[in-house]
Amino acid sequence: MSHSDRAEIEGREYRMTIGTPEPEPIGTPEPEPIGTPEPEPIGTPPLPPISLPEPAPTPTPPPSAPAAEPKPTRRIADPARERRVDLPEPAPIDRHGPARVIALCNQKGGVGKTTTTINLGAGLALFGRRVLLVDFDPQGALSVGLAVPAHELERTIYNLLMERGAETRDLIHRTSVPGLDLLPSNIDLSAAEVQLVGEVAREQALARVLRGVVADYDYVLIDCQPSLGLLTVNALTAAQGVIIPLECEFFSLRGVALLRDTIEKVRDRLNPDLEIQGILATMYDPRTVHNREVFARVVEAFDDVVFQTVIARTVRFPETTVVGEPILTWAPGSPGAVAYRDLAKELLARDAARG
Ligand SMILES: Nc1ncnc2c1ncn2[C@@H]1O[C@H](COP(=O)(O)OP(=O)(O)O)[C@@H](O)[C@H]1O
Ligand SMILES: [Mg+2]
Repeated sequence: MSHSDRAEIEGREYRMTIGTPEPEPIGTPEPEPIGTPEPEPIGTPPLPPISLPEPAPTPTPPPSAPAAEPKPTRRIADPARERRVDLPEPAPIDRHGPARVIALCNQKGGVGKTTTTINLGAGLALFGRRVLLVDFDPQGALSVGLAVPAHELERTIYNLLMERGAETRDLIHRTSVPGLDLLPSNIDLSAAEVQLVGEVAREQALARVLRGVVADYDYVLIDCQPSLGLLTVNALTAAQGVIIPLECEFFSLRGVALLRDTIEKVRDRLNPDLEIQGILATMYDPRTVHNREVFARVVEAFDDVVFQTVIARTVRFPETTVVGEPILTWAPGSPGAVAYRDLAKELLARDAARG
């Protein structure tokens, strides 16, 4: 299938998904990707530089299955649903720290890094873990998403990076969720990217800032900016794990390959402990062929690194930014909240298995 095929299919499916009130003639079957008129193959992009085999054939249900009630909608095989197994309830803990430090990283913007940082953090806190969220994007969206007016703050993570003797603990804010704390940032942080270049051990600045507080927490989650610049390298140097939120779109695959190269460089040169902790499909819509296909290819390429938990596309997330609260406390029964609670469980299960 050419790229323009995909784009066309995706466009059509997407319109269908968001429910544009274009009335479908009654009784018309849902449009299938096959038989789409062959468009001009202009601008076909090169395939991403990771080996991605053809998707596995869709398993058919056993013929012995009892005849079910006729379904109002066509059943589709959702590769995310097929991978799901039950997750164990996280064991309670009675002592805290030292923290596992995880960077949420993807050089593409708008893929759900900040949303995942807030809600995975809230999920871990609701399971009794002490969590520090580090806003490491000069946009300050993480801080704003937790109702901390970062643009009004005199002192932020910028001061910790640039000033000797500044005390990290003094700049940590509590949030509305018990056990969930925040180290805020604002636009000042953008200057650090330039100013750090001339410093000794410029890649270790964030690790140094966090050193004094990792003992107080079980998890430190770093919300990275959408670039692979020096701030992100600092986050990767301070972390043991990387979580890559990924929108299931064709171009995302190439972005992940590039990010993986950067992670490998940081591991070789600066931080031998670093590993990809997980790839998280965000804004996933199993009704679109394109999302399902890309998800299946990501699983084929990265296998168990891909979290079984996927985050569906829902308007509730933009809402929570406005209220400055995680979806887990704002709309605890919503599918988005359930998904992030599952992600927290899955992460805890992975880390428990590691020992
Ligand atoms: N699963 C989702 N479904 C729909 N919208 C989402 C979802 N996750 C995030 N968003 C919205 O998409 C936008 C970008 O998300 P964000 O977490 O800020 O991405 P990033 O930090 O990678 O730039 C925000 O408006 C956010 O509310
Ligand atoms: Mg962000």
